[in-house]
Amino acid sequence: MDNRAIGVFDSGLGGLTAVCALGELLPSENIVYLGDTLRVPYGDKSRDELKLCAESDIAFLLSKDVKAILIACGTVSSTLEKEKLLSYGVPVFEVLTPAVEKALACTKNKKVGVIATAASIRAGAFERTLKESDREISVYPIACPKLVPLIESGNLAGAEIESALCEYLSPLKAVGIDTLILGCTHYPLLKDSISAFLGDIALIDIGFEAAKRVKAALRQSGSLCQDGGRVCFYVSGYEPSFKENAARFLGYELDKINKAVL
Ligand code: DGL
Repeated sequence: MDNRAIGVFDSGLGGLTAVCALGELLPSENIVYLGDTLRVPYGDKSRDELKLCAESDIAFLLSKDVKAILIACGTVSSTLEKEKLLSYGVPVFEVLTPAVEKALACTKNKKVGVIATAASIRAGAFERTLKESDREISVYPIACPKLVPLIESGNLAGAEIESALCEYLSPLKAVGIDTLILGCTHYPLLKDSISAFLGDIALIDIGFEAAKRVKAALRQSGSLCQDGGRVCFYVSGYEPSFKENAARFLGYELDKINKAVL
């Protein structure tokens, strides 16, 4: 048993999809959530900038004495060095590998789409990992730079979202993918519109797949929490808009948003 919290971070609101998944799968766990809203979006940053962001986010969560960290960000997960994950003294989970494994298990026609931030698509890690596991897979990666800024401004529906989705998803519809990795943790917030556009295909929620890994690992190491269920929120930037949007996405009011100095 370990009653310390699980640390979760993302650039902003997207990682809340992983917080929801953890809440569903591990309702007794405490969570410390960090949204790096001062530096959002991550998707237009260079690999070096992302490395610095990830280092300071992880250092912040470690300072809160967390027992494990979930990198609830496809962009950081796509660009970090895997060996680095073993160097923090607590288990650190990323969102890419579980999503790829789930996509491989789901696809029947071996046509898999990946939508993600520009930095993730440029890094090519989703595509590489899929193809390393199955050389017959055809991967269709699409960068979607308009989506995160729209979601961060609280925009989950309407003409702008619909037109951006039409632009990004039309080529995927045309080639007939049967599986789509939502390679950014913000995108499950648009799941209904994506489903409506693409019809009956498998949508892979990277935060949810990673949360399943966290659960399995904590259970295996005997580190589950017996007395918790509290979520403590930190943001590095402006708090009021985060509070308002997070409440909408999570479906409950947030008591307090703390300021994180990174
Ligand atoms: N939600 C993040 C991801 O999964 C970051 C998106 C961004 O800040 O551009 O990639």
